[in-house]
Amino acid sequence: MNVLGIETSCDETAAAVVADGRHVRSNAIASQIALHRSHGGVVPELAARGHLTAIVPVVEAALTGAGIGRDGVDAVAVTDGPGLAGSLLVGVNAAKGFAYALGKPLLPVNHLEAHLYANWLVDGNRARESDDPPAFPAVCLLVSGGHTELILMTGHGAYRHLGGTLDDAAGEAFDKGARWLGLGYPGGPAIERAARDGDPARFPLPRAWLGGDEEFGFSFSGLKTALRRLTDPYRLPDPPPAPSTGPFPEHRPPLFRPDLPVADLAASYQDAVIDVLATKTVRAAFAQGARTVLLAGGVAANAALRARLGAEMDRHSETGRVPPIPVRWPPPALCTDNAAMVAAAAFFGRDPVGPPAWDLDVHPRHPLGSR
Ligand code: KG4
Ligand code: ZN
Repeated sequence: MNVLGIETSCDETAAAVVADGRHVRSNAIASQIALHRSHGGVVPELAARGHLTAIVPVVEAALTGAGIGRDGVDAVAVTDGPGLAGSLLVGVNAAKGFAYALGKPLLPVNHLEAHLYANWLVDGNRARESDDPPAFPAVCLLVSGGHTELILMTGHGAYRHLGGTLDDAAGEAFDKGARWLGLGYPGGPAIERAARDGDPARFPLPRAWLGGDEEFGFSFSGLKTALRRLTDPYRLPDPPPAPSTGPFPEHRPPLFRPDLPVADLAASYQDAVIDVLATKTVRAAFAQGARTVLLAGGVAANAALRARLGAEMDRHSETGRVPPIPVRWPPPALCTDNAAMVAAAAFFGRDPVGPPAWDLDVHPRHPLGSR
């Protein structure tokens, strides 16, 4: 069964064709990074406009790339939330149009669920021991620009929330840190790059371990303030404000002396985020008797996070004399927003021949598991 997936929840216009929920036949993405870069983050109005111009060519590219023609599509799946309302509307309405024109079912998909299902996609490039589907129960760490959640997945579509962020998402923490240091947008890859030559132990940034009811909860909102304090001695006076060149404010990072230890700051900052993520994920996996640990979301593209998770898993398993639990993650291009994961989630998540959802609306704040 070939599902055409469509994804426009944030700043990537994406369409893909996936066979039987696992085999990526095509995966087309029009990135809006250049559109938002000078603003230091996603501007919702620009994102919606960008989706409008990109959606038809991107869907055409996905169909051409899959080499199946329009008749080969069995269903159209689309992200209906959570995400930016204006962006979601473009994808949902385009998907309705394509599904109606093709005479195929229209399947709504939750964006968070889609991120998890990226782990079911088979992609020849990844370093993975096997292409078997992930075993249940799985403890999933979903870390993106808008979400940080630990989820127990006991079967297809069966989720239990173990904990989440009380404030900023992990990706948001990366984006804010990178903005402050003037490393650019999106922040995660920029911090990861800058951190490569840095010493993660140089600056002790706070870790919010929380406890009690929040044993598996996270908090990252204090990190940016702590980073800011460390950079204060290097700060130069702000230049006079430049005249505005458009309706949306341009981002001007603070100015620092050239001896600002950017690499050590980035490495210490990244370490503060991934330390808590890895430690709590491994603890949750053993506490829940998980057979697999799954990473998902844009931050799962971070190589330091994946390495730390592996190391933490080995340490925990040696100390407790228990076998390590296999950890899996999608290849980087399937961690960040894409439409292949949407098609996969639609295949596993619902009855593909259900009634057409022509009255489908967008759900900007949809939690995981809601339909
Ligand atoms: O999943 P995603 O593409 O979009 C959302 O649904 O939010 O995640 C985007 C987030 C951004 O905050 C970005 O900075 C972060 O994922 N990200 C990374 C990396 N690549 C993307 N964070 C850390 N390291 C990376 N390599
Ligand atoms: Zn996402």
